[in-house]
Amino acid sequence: MKDIKETRERINEIDKKMVKLFEERMAEAKEVFLYKRENNLPIFDKEREDEVLSRNSELIENKEYLKYYEEFMENLMNTSKKYQEELKRIDETPRSSSLKIIHVNTDKEYDILVGKNILKNFDKFTHINRKVLLVTDENIPRKYAKSIEKESKELFYYVIKPGEKSKNIDNYKAILELMTNNHFSRKDVVIALGGGVVGDLAGFAASTYMRGIDFYNIPTSLLAMVDSSIGGKCAIDFLGIKNIVGSFYQPNKVIIDIDTLKTLPKRELYAGLAEAFKMALCFDKELAALILRDPNIIDNIDKVIVSSINIKKRVVEEDTYESGLRKVLNYGHTVGHAIEAIESPKILHGEAVALGMLYASSKEVCKLINLFIAKYSLPKPKELDKQKIMEFIRHDKKSSQDRIDFIYLNSATNFEIKNITLKELEDRL
Ligand code: GLY
Repeated sequence: MKDIKETRERINEIDKKMVKLFEERMAEAKEVFLYKRENNLPIFDKEREDEVLSRNSELIENKEYLKYYEEFMENLMNTSKKYQEELKRIDETPRSSSLKIIHVNTDKEYDILVGKNILKNFDKFTHINRKVLLVTDENIPRKYAKSIEKESKELFYYVIKPGEKSKNIDNYKAILELMTNNHFSRKDVVIALGGGVVGDLAGFAASTYMRGIDFYNIPTSLLAMVDSSIGGKCAIDFLGIKNIVGSFYQPNKVIIDIDTLKTLPKRELYAGLAEAFKMALCFDKELAALILRDPNIIDNIDKVIVSSINIKKRVVEEDTYESGLRKVLNYGHTVGHAIEAIESPKILHGEAVALGMLYASSKEVCKLINLFIAKYSLPKPKELDKQKIMEFIRHDKKSSQDRIDFIYLNSATNFEIKNITLKELEDRL
């Protein structure tokens, strides 16, 4: 048996040498990053990694160590990639005091950039010198795509009609046809420029084409900025059921240019604010107070956006696939979706959610919701057609059995996820 003290000293010596080698390796990783940046190459190069691993594994003499060595190398290469991603992020970020960067760490890490007039620099923080498919809707001003038009190698447009009806299988199929016929590869990219409908449709196409290609999301409605563009939910509607076919697919980056809200109709702005208010009621009393009290919320809209994104970031980082906490974001949606479907197209999604929240809250919280509805001139609550609402809820994907998870707010930030029967839900209406 060797002396433990001597053995430890030898390990210390080896570790010392490894520190040096580690530093040398990281310096080389930086060189590789600079080369890749110069030549527009992606950081992740699977072939090169496999080749390094198998070449070095052959050098291992004691085969007992082999699987540990492989694990060690994989970790080392991941560390090196992380460092290169970090260099890339710093490199791509334009220096501007108004620009906020929120880093999201779910099944994939990505940044959300929030700033004013940042679309003009779109190419500075994305990689679009390749084939680009830009999905947008007829109402989105083309000027927002100027920098994309100028900098992409080859640009294809797919323009949909505004509205939920466009989130259909025909548009999905047409987008896939466009990509296939124009030989899009996994190295190319899909960009969504628009509201939640555009983001959901484009994201779903990006997530399934060749099992997933790069995806940048540029939300231009408040609702998409504070909610739907974050957390990776993408979907289309099918057989009359909202979001029934979809995936969880994180974007490579979300770019929020607050100036795009200038062309958003007030009604849509306030409907989007309802989703921010929903998150504020569940998680952030200060934000709820700001939304309720600010005499001119548009002046503080950047604060609303950043705070809402931070809430959503925390939720999706904890529960990406909605097995627990993320369900809270469905607060107001069970009855809200039903109202939206029945009243469509007279009511906007956010407006319906605000009404839906009234059926999922204590009296104390309902008071706050009614203040919100009055302040932002949302449609007022009216007598519901119980039968129609329940018919819709039974048809909705979230209630395949006779019980549903229902989010209930006892007081601001004090929520409960209750598993209730449909009969219990009907009694609440
Ligand atoms: N909009 C709810 C969610 O992303 O989970």
